Amino acid sequence: MPSLINYRELNILNDSEVAQIAETHENAPKYWTPEYCPKPEQIRQRIEQIKKRDYCVDRFFQLAETPDGKIIGFHWLDLEKADSELFGHIKSLWVHDDFQHQGLARQLKANGEIWAKNKGATYIKTTVHANNVKMLNFNLHFNFESGFIEMIKKL
Ligand SMILES: CC(C)(COP(=O)(O)OP(=O)(O)OC[C@H]1O[C@@H](n2cnc3c(N)ncnc32)[C@H](O)[C@@H]1OP(=O)(O)O)[C@@H](O)C(=O)NCCC(=O)NCCS
Repeated sequence: MPSLINYRELNILNDSEVAQIAETHENAPKYWTPEYCPKPEQIRQRIEQIKKRDYCVDRFFQLAETPDGKIIGFHWLDLEKADSELFGHIKSLWVHDDFQHQGLARQLKANGEIWAKNKGATYIKTTVHANNVKMLNFNLHFNFESGFIEMIKKL
């Protein structure tokens, strides 16, 4: 694992940092649908969602950055409540292509899970696109199990 990676909280007061994260998050579908292109409005709405903390009890938003301040990974995990039970909801996990397979996602996930557990979460859930084979396999590797599977028919 690279030794000089710094893990720190996202600064929601830093507009360019938030914009960079929102843009990366909205471009993630390109991994499984290469022609995908997010609309500027989607990125704008994501910026607002990241800045506010609506619909969650608490939020873990951690960045991984190089010593010269380049953001090379992040993990966004919301603490939510259902049936009076707290759980962690993974909203995003991303590692820059040039820094994959060096343990960054493992570290980000471990930090997020410790945070969620300390907050009282009893489980963690995530939603993955069926075509995102990389992320499906990654989650299976980390002992996630499939629950409900959403199916869509275009009209
Ligand atoms: C999936 C992703 C987060 C993995 O990041 P990473 O930093 O390369 O992962 P790590 O190096 O921490 O790997 C941790 C472990 O997972 C395993 N792993 C990594 N990618 C895997 C894959 N595609 N399938 C199965 N296991 C995988 C590694 O072998 C490693 O196992 P080990 O520690 O027991 O040896 C990264 O590839 C990514 O950002 N993908 C694109 C983003 C994306 O699709 N996001 C979904 C939309 S939110």
